[in-house]
Amino acid sequence: MSTAVETTTDHAAPDVGQQAGMLLQQVAGYVGTRTTQLGLETGLIEALAEADGGLTPDELGIEADIDPFYAAVWCRAAIGAGLVVRDGQRLRLAAHLDALLLDGEHPAHVGAMVRILEHPEIFDRFGQRLATGERTWWDQCSPDFIGGVAATGLPFYVRLIPGGLQHVPGVEELLQGPARVLDTACGAGAGLVRLGELYPDLTLTGADGDRTSLDRAAKAVAEAGIDHRVDLVHTPLEALDHDEEFDLVINNISMHECRDIDEVTARIRRALRPGGWFVISDFPFPDSDEGLASVPGRIMSAIQFFEAQIDDQLLPRHVYDDLLVRHGFTDLGSAELAPVHALTWGRKEEHSARSGC
Ligand SMILES: C[S@@+](CC[C@H](N)C(=O)[O-])C[C@H]1O[C@@H](n2cnc3c(N)ncnc32)[C@H](O)[C@@H]1O
Repeated sequence: MSTAVETTTDHAAPDVGQQAGMLLQQVAGYVGTRTTQLGLETGLIEALAEADGGLTPDELGIEADIDPFYAAVWCRAAIGAGLVVRDGQRLRLAAHLDALLLDGEHPAHVGAMVRILEHPEIFDRFGQRLATGERTWWDQCSPDFIGGVAATGLPFYVRLIPGGLQHVPGVEELLQGPARVLDTACGAGAGLVRLGELYPDLTLTGADGDRTSLDRAAKAVAEAGIDHRVDLVHTPLEALDHDEEFDLVINNISMHECRDIDEVTARIRRALRPGGWFVISDFPFPDSDEGLASVPGRIMSAIQFFEAQIDDQLLPRHVYDDLLVRHGFTDLGSAELAPVHALTWGRKEEHSARSGC
């Protein structure tokens, strides 16, 4: 071995203290995550958000109906995690955390993502199935988990509708007039509700393969008073069966789940009228080690533990470019809406031999 190589390796290799620091930083992150989860679950964070002048730990205990000693212990951990700041004798929620942790409709909301990690479907069940490789499907997930997924998907829909869709040429104008929009894998219906409420002339269809999610969607569109404009279809996307009906098809954080992504894309293309748009809104999974080590990459790696159990993985965004090109879409484009959220879109040609018209 040459000296030059040894020297380079010695310089590049971290020492044991640095490696211990790297691991302990992760332990500290875990403590911060658990402290945030506890604060959300018990109402401690909500009580702090509602107290304009701040609260002492004793007052916080009374407001949240928590033992005052335990409340004080949580407060110290929350100060350490950057959730809470001191203001004289009182404590306040740190800047913007009310929106980021409590407002599920804020475009930068992260509270739902913090909470989804609590569910056994992510880490525990993956650990239990490591040896067997047993797979599962949505109908084997608890209603609580499905609710948590819907809450996690909501900020993606909030960024997509209307802001994200405005990146796609002509789509904002299209949404203003009478038009037909299909949400593929509509889940619990949050996207249908946003589209229906923002654009009163739209006729909407939601398709999903999971009955529980569709039942939630039916309830959500009825509560929003838009059920007369919404059709819900229980189908695997691989069996989607519509001909040139839609002006716009969207898919929010679900395209990576398709059993057969090419079959689904071919059917979506068939369901679009000539000139219609397909917009994929998804997690852009990194395709480099550097990306995996980034904060969004590390968060998306947690989601991969669940995705593996339903036999898929999040995909790098460029996979969707290749997919749309493979199926003859034109006018491709993409946009990053957040570090864990990217759009990819394409258009069905106005006049195409492949459209069959
Ligand atoms: C992560 S959830 C997202 C739901 C919704 N779009 C949202 O953002 O809240 C994924 C959804 O995709 C549905 N799904 C996954 N693969 C499917 C397929 N091949 N056919 C139909 N539905 C599918 C699941 O049933 C589930 O409701």
